[in-house]
Amino acid sequence: MAVMQLVGYQLPLKHTHKEEELHIVLPCTSVVSSSCHSDFAGYLCYQCVVVQPLHKLHVVSPEEDFVHCGSLSRMQTIGKLMKVYITRRIPPEGMKILSSATGVCEVSMWDSDEPVPRTELLKGVQGAHGLLCMLSDKIDAELLDAAGPNLKVISTMSVGFDHLILDAIKKRGIRVGYTPDVLTDATAELTVALLLATARRLPEGVEAVKNGDWTSWKPLMLCGYGLSGSTVGVIGLGRIGMAIARRLMPFGVKRLLYSGRTTKADAAEVSGEFVPLDTLVSESDFIVVSCSLTPETQGLCDKAFFSKMKNTAVFINSSRGAVVNQEDLYEALTSGQIAAAGLDVTTPEPLPTNHPLLTLNNCVVLPHIGSATYSTRGVMAALSARNLLEGLQGGEMPSELAF
Ligand code: NDP
Ligand code: DGY
Repeated sequence: MAVMQLVGYQLPLKHTHKEEELHIVLPCTSVVSSSCHSDFAGYLCYQCVVVQPLHKLHVVSPEEDFVHCGSLSRMQTIGKLMKVYITRRIPPEGMKILSSATGVCEVSMWDSDEPVPRTELLKGVQGAHGLLCMLSDKIDAELLDAAGPNLKVISTMSVGFDHLILDAIKKRGIRVGYTPDVLTDATAELTVALLLATARRLPEGVEAVKNGDWTSWKPLMLCGYGLSGSTVGVIGLGRIGMAIARRLMPFGVKRLLYSGRTTKADAAEVSGEFVPLDTLVSESDFIVVSCSLTPETQGLCDKAFFSKMKNTAVFINSSRGAVVNQEDLYEALTSGQIAAAGLDVTTPEPLPTNHPLLTLNNCVVLPHIGSATYSTRGVMAALSARNLLEGLQGGEMPSELAF
């Protein structure tokens, strides 16, 4: 049986249970990891943690009488608490908030960095009042049925919510929390890095240095495309699209075009011109996709789209993989229809290592790391936890999705 190791307070032990009873007493506000630790001597009995096989961890918020808790009093207390299921290990900033919610909830978590298998997820959510999920967990009618009528709040640790089947969620009156704004800067920064890496052929350059292809300075070696004097087209000038545009303008961009459903007041800050999609596609030297994935944007970038692009244009996508038809993109890249593509998102994720796009020098693929800075992921986890707790208690969620 896996036993969770406590990282945190180390105070004198008052009471322990036998491991066979699956009840192990740990201090509150603990941060746990999955590495084994069989000796709990030296820890104060403040909080009850039930360790079960399959890496499922149950954290019960501490109560006064838990100082001398036994399995009976623990079971009684669980009856009063709301059940929360977390589909993945989340950064400690989020766990701390959940574990300090005294007397509010009992948390069980899929204690892994890997996604919870669907069958385990369907079992894990049974009877849950709250669900904290990731963008890779499909939250559909099947899952909601498995959870049952207790489910009141879904908190996703993402700004994208295309994995949530909103019709089914709305029908059941479930509230949804998400994480807008807090990841905007990190994602915009990564998108700019991907654009520069793709346009200036950085991965090919790094490879050439390593494999000996760098034999001399050559006039045309690894030439690419620069932003100075260029036209950039942003599809979806929302929070992230706007943050990308702000970062690109100082590179000397001449025109900033954007398309979407509505014009944006703050586009003036980047001299943004609202244009029809066709105009954006045919006039841009760089196209950056930063719209949300919806039925209208699914497959938006297809053969017809790429055929309108300039042969020298660079295509960047950091929104969702399904906005792009990848077969059509492959064709556009191999036929010389477009110059290069940089993708932070693909279909599926992960992209199989034998995928044709990965054979191309003019295609740079990253593993969906737009928001991946330590601080951003910590803030996302904390916001997800606060959304969940407020939702469970009927309060105002810091970031509730209106739908
Ligand atoms: P916003 O809601 O602020 O922006 C989404 C934009 O998409 C809006 O401007 C919207 O325009 C536009 N849009 C919607 N429908 C269309 C359409 N049919 N054609 C063109 N544009 C359209 O969200 P964020 O900027 O915060 O996030 C955007 C997306 O980025 C997320 O949904 C997520 O999928 C992705 N993302 C990816 C990350 C990564 O790691 N790569 C990290 C974070 C987010 P309008 O306002 O006119 O409706
Ligand atoms: C999101 O939040 O939607 C991103 O894809 C991951 O941060």
